[in-house]
Amino acid sequence: MAYHTSTLVFALFSIFFASALADPTTYNVVSLGAKADGKSDSTEAFLSAWKSACDSENPATIYVPAGSFYLQQVAFSGPCKNNAIIISIDGTLVAPSDYKVIGNSGNWLLFEHVDGVTISGGILDGQGTGLWACKTSDGGCPKGATTLEFSNSNNIVVSDLTSLNSQMFHIVVNGCQNVQMQGVKVTADGNSPNTDGIHVQSSSTVTILNSKIGTGDDCISIGPGTTNLWIENVACGPGHGISIGSLGKEQEEAGVQNVTVKTTTFTGTQNGVRIKSWGRPSSGFARNILFQHALMVNVKNPIIIDQNYCPNNKGCPGQDSSIKISDVTYQDIHGTSATEVAVKFDCSSGDPCSNIRLEDVKLTYQNQAAEASCNHAAGTSSGVVQPTSCL
Ligand SMILES: *[C@@H]1O[C@H](CO)[C@@H](O)[C@H](O)[C@H]1NC(C)=O
Repeated sequence: MAYHTSTLVFALFSIFFASALADPTTYNVVSLGAKADGKSDSTEAFLSAWKSACDSENPATIYVPAGSFYLQQVAFSGPCKNNAIIISIDGTLVAPSDYKVIGNSGNWLLFEHVDGVTISGGILDGQGTGLWACKTSDGGCPKGATTLEFSNSNNIVVSDLTSLNSQMFHIVVNGCQNVQMQGVKVTADGNSPNTDGIHVQSSSTVTILNSKIGTGDDCISIGPGTTNLWIENVACGPGHGISIGSLGKEQEEAGVQNVTVKTTTFTGTQNGVRIKSWGRPSSGFARNILFQHALMVNVKNPIIIDQNYCPNNKGCPGQDSSIKISDVTYQDIHGTSATEVAVKFDCSSGDPCSNIRLEDVKLTYQNQAAEASCNHAAGTSSGVVQPTSCL
């Protein structure tokens, strides 16, 4: 009897461990009805794959094979029953080319309230050209959809993903913790409106590595409430550079702190490394920022702080930014400026920039010394600094 009991217990343990260690269940979207023809609507198949993966007690994989899959807006919503969902994409996901279909829905592919999701590979084709043409020719167009948004989610990995021609921002990280992105490629026309590459806000512990971003707006934009952000080995251009801000749009706003931007190349961009705030009162701030090892190739404003942002002079004339900018280091920034003023610190008169540090900065304009311009900015310089520091 004792013998039989232990055999039974052993058998039960074996079954338990075998299922716990089993390969994650895989849901192939084609088996669930998706069509790789680029025009049949595969939205329901993707939603059903998501529901199965999200309801699974064990790790689960959603597989998207090669081919082109047309999707309307998809919300991949949690919370899920496991925290290890992998979406492995060999194919291309295609948005509706008629911008009216998703142009007012805010986003195209949304992940919300999820924990532990990895997206690996794939191309996201936002089909934004029609909306860009509308925006540049007449008014009355929808705002447009973000291609890929993570909202109120944790422990997200995005690797080797390409985002093309988004209607609006390509990738948004909002209200998230612990997000890693690597090998991301963003491509959109240099004149496409509001097509920021990656936008991060209200999030902490986000890393963006080994990525290549060419677009019509900021390559990376960093909004209020961003802390512990690490950006390394990113090539930007065309585009508006890497920008902290615009900050101070709202009166009550969380600050930005501990941002590292390391080993970047900017080619033909409007800005290199920028901090920007609206010229009006706000509770926000930007501090403990490090810009290290940047190469500028023909960049209009390689180093810029602009605290007097006030588009169309609406809602701010005569006012002053109260976003306090402090402890910002520029270390080993070199290359060419496309304008004479290569370093510009235009800070708030009421809350001047403090502890700005320039270390080994060498920027030239047409093979000559460029210029630096300071307004309400204090700090130090060390090493070779050209143009001569105005701090
Ligand atoms: C700053 O952020 C990095 C990650 O980007 C993190 O490793 C580090 O601990 C943070 N420093 C502080 C003082 O919070």
